[in-house]
Amino acid sequence: MTGGGSSLPEVRRLLAVLAAGKRCAEVGTAFGEGAAALASTARSLVTVELDPDRLSIAAYRLRRFPNVELLAGDWRDHLPQRTSVLMGKAPTRCVSFCSTTRSSSQSSF
Ligand SMILES: C[S@@+](CC[C@H](N)C(=O)[O-])C[C@H]1O[C@@H](n2cnc3c(N)ncnc32)[C@H](O)[C@@H]1O
Repeated sequence: MTGGGSSLPEVRRLLAVLAAGKRCAEVGTAFGEGAAALASTARSLVTVELDPDRLSIAAYRLRRFPNVELLAGDWRDHLPQRTSVLMGKAPTRCVSFCSTTRSSSQSSF
């Protein structure tokens, strides 16, 4: 769906619909395009990116979204803790998984 880069426009439109009003988490921010789509409708978004160059591009793209927390590093070091705090008691949740180089897209937390 991404070819290792950004999600397709059609996928971003779907993400925005699925995220509406929800607390969301994203594995692999890349350049922030999927995150921007999620954040445009989500209540909140926690998103994690491993690659520092991609992270800085994403940070610039996402600067206008106060509902986004952009984290640097491996999602496995962040999301299990963050989602238990942010999403554990939430009535709704939205989790966006992307293919990653170091972790399985089938992983769960
Ligand atoms: C397919 S891209 C993500 C596309 C993005 N979500 C979008 O919708 O535009 C996958 C990203 O996951 C990142 N990644 C790979 N392993 C990771 C890990 N263990 N933790 C966090 N990010 C990781 C890669 O650096 C890459 O930028």
